[in-house]
Amino acid sequence: MKYLATEIIAKTRNGQELTEDQISDFIGAYVAEELPDYQMAAWLMAALIKKLTPQEAYWLTNTMLHSGEVIDFSDIAKPKIDKHSTGGVGDKTSLILAPIVACADIAVPMMSGRGLGHSGGTLDKLDAIPGFTTQLDLHRFRKLIEDHGMAMIGQTPTICPADKKIYALRDVTATVESKELICASIMSKKLAEGIDSLVLDVKFGSGAFMKTLSDAKDLAERLIDIGVRGGKRVCALISNMDQPLGRNVGNALEIEECVSILRCDGGADMLYADNYQLSLELAGTMIFLGNKADSVEEGVDIATSILHSGQAYEKFLEICKAQGGDIDALPKAQHQREVRIDQSGYIAEMNTEEIGRAGIEIGAGRKYSTDTIDPTAGFVFHSKLGDKVEPSKPILTMYANSTSAFDVAEKRIVNGIKVQKSKPQQPPLIAARIEGGH
Ligand code: URA
Repeated sequence: MKYLATEIIAKTRNGQELTEDQISDFIGAYVAEELPDYQMAAWLMAALIKKLTPQEAYWLTNTMLHSGEVIDFSDIAKPKIDKHSTGGVGDKTSLILAPIVACADIAVPMMSGRGLGHSGGTLDKLDAIPGFTTQLDLHRFRKLIEDHGMAMIGQTPTICPADKKIYALRDVTATVESKELICASIMSKKLAEGIDSLVLDVKFGSGAFMKTLSDAKDLAERLIDIGVRGGKRVCALISNMDQPLGRNVGNALEIEECVSILRCDGGADMLYADNYQLSLELAGTMIFLGNKADSVEEGVDIATSILHSGQAYEKFLEICKAQGGDIDALPKAQHQREVRIDQSGYIAEMNTEEIGRAGIEIGAGRKYSTDTIDPTAGFVFHSKLGDKVEPSKPILTMYANSTSAFDVAEKRIVNGIKVQKSKPQQPPLIAARIEGGH
């Protein structure tokens, strides 16, 4: 190392800005195993408490980005665009928008993650499709994009190794929550994917990591700032996560909901109205950023007509087959239980983080990274915010291959639902839209 580690830690602790060279030296030494975990942990805590400057956050992103392979798709003549969501419950838009956007002649190189905390992950959802493989190398990733215009894979070991190592340390040192560290972690991985533009779905509310609209907007602006400094066009939708998106929560159940929307089953657009609308808005924004539409509104119109033409469903079946998945073999749970609430009135609030945690209890997510997921586990909500409920009507059905955690999951969900006598006002699904770059 060129610099003294303690000097760098002290500089951040004192609220002084590091140079690009200092950041690169410090991160580089950590990846090369020349800097111990305890010094990195001390620096991460200093960075969380003192807050890195936007310039430092960009340098950190860039250093982490170049700690591994950066994909170059410049020989693929289409625009390359991905979407990133900051995470929620029942958040499954990727599976709907990727095939739609690929049908609009835009390449979608999608590298996704597993569930994090109470929120689900696209990789776990794809794993519920028997045979579907997401662990592919970059050569195969490129081939899928060339042949099908899209691919949905997990982060390879060669992409952003610095983030992998630092994220694991943040997870056990209470330093995940730093906005600057979150931004550097997310954007380093996205910028490594070889994209031209990025659409962000930054969520706020009871099921999101950012609980307030202002925190979500602040996070979106920081993510956009880094993307724009990295030469990308970035657009963020700030979307409401005060209840699960759509009706199905849990891996195979979420795939079923996406298939129903993609297949344009009668009434799917109304039954899953929020998921349907958000997926089309995100897809439309990607189509606009890919210069295939003159406005987001036109992009949404194009996305809607692709969906209703059946082309997106065909593309979804095509990519499932190409990645080895058998969509007709989705597993079904051995057990189910209806859940009722002992009150009459309208649902005014749902503690959506608790719903995510209840999902983990029944096996839809992991308590420990070594846990195995039950792909059939999850919930189908019959009632959403603002719906009328009464003791005789189930508000949801729980599914799993074991009933052992049904009681604890039911308690978590029921305790987190507030019912009131008058019908509450519905907040808008998309609260804001922020754009950056040209
Ligand atoms: N997702 C990431 O990839 N990194 C973070 O730090 C938080 C969410």
